Amino acid sequence: MFYDLVASTWDQDETDALHRVIDSGQFTMAGEVAAFEKEFAAYFDMPYAVMVNSGSSANLAGVASLFFKKDRPLQPGDEVIVPAVSWSTTYHPLQQYGLKLRFVDIDLATLNIDVTQLAAALTPRTRMIMVVSILGNPAALDVISKFAEQHGLYLFEDNCESMDAELNGRKTGTFGDLNSFSFFFSHHISTMEGGMVLTRDAELYQLMRAIRAHGWTRDLPADSPLFERRGDSHFEQYRFILPGYNLRPLEFSGATGRTQLKKLPGFTAARRRNAELFRSLFQDDERFIIQQENGRSSAFSFTIILNPAAQIDRNAVFSALREASIGFRVITGGCFPRHEAIRFYDYETVGDLPNANLLHEQGFFVGNHAFDLTPQLTRLRSVLDECCK
Ligand SMILES: Cc1ncc(COP(=O)(O)O)c(C=O)c1O
Repeated sequence: MFYDLVASTWDQDETDALHRVIDSGQFTMAGEVAAFEKEFAAYFDMPYAVMVNSGSSANLAGVASLFFKKDRPLQPGDEVIVPAVSWSTTYHPLQQYGLKLRFVDIDLATLNIDVTQLAAALTPRTRMIMVVSILGNPAALDVISKFAEQHGLYLFEDNCESMDAELNGRKTGTFGDLNSFSFFFSHHISTMEGGMVLTRDAELYQLMRAIRAHGWTRDLPADSPLFERRGDSHFEQYRFILPGYNLRPLEFSGATGRTQLKKLPGFTAARRRNAELFRSLFQDDERFIIQQENGRSSAFSFTIILNPAAQIDRNAVFSALREASIGFRVITGGCFPRHEAIRFYDYETVGDLPNANLLHEQGFFVGNHAFDLTPQLTRLRSVLDECCK
């Protein structure tokens, strides 16, 4: 493919890391994962990190932990404010724990939740905001965290698409009570499958460690406030205090994560250089609505929404892109309430979500990678010029 949606960032370093694990004979979660958690937390200047086997699992473990807090736990029937555009597993744990979702439209410039509608989304049952920075572009996390604080709401940052982005000098994925990350193949760093949750809350940290591994106590410190040790070591090894899962990552993912994290600043710089070129090619063309940067984007990919005023047939554009061997796809998951899975949800929308619907019907994205995309972006520009006359 001339310009693919995804590209590997692995080289000999990751192969060496895999061999280090093979040579050690320790494959299930142990020292490599623990070291990666420590290094990842340090990179983001956060005290606690819990690695799991995907970004989806990070959202699941994080949402679950809020239900087992001692004070002010979430309860079934509580409401969560969510953006109308995100990935399915931003939402599924909320449904699985019996929460009601209130979908808010996106801002057409940034593609993130439209913060002018937060007040309209708030009800006496609202307990949390699930905020998502779409495709590298920071959501209005400053405004949203202030709103959450004013109204006593938990803030969950699903940062699976925006590792290394920044708002006002602060990294995304550090604003929430809980902050999730994905290391899936196509993401900013890759362990092939993998995820992480960052938090400053010691209780949520320990809850997630138990939830990650069967709900047992084995991964908790001896002085954990979550349970009292009874001194019967035979039974203590198999003591279950929470309804948990098995979301543990492999040592392979811990080891490759450590290698990839060292390369993250270089990857982000390369992605940003491509983003500058993309903007210079498309910014002033009224036929195309492109994502406007808020703060410093980590440029996951490049979105284009065909301006309805230009009356361009998206299928004709897709045919031209296929012909030119340029990969493209739906922007994140499109407008989520339009998916069949919504019939299992308890939800309301705040208004008709016109921007999320426009993104769904007229949008697509092309990839960004950690290497120079000048030939690819130049070709994209000429293909779109030709078919959008
Ligand atoms: C916003 C968002 N949340 C969660 C996920 C899930 O991550 P994973 O694929 O690692 O399960 C994704 C995946 O791309 C995502 O974009």
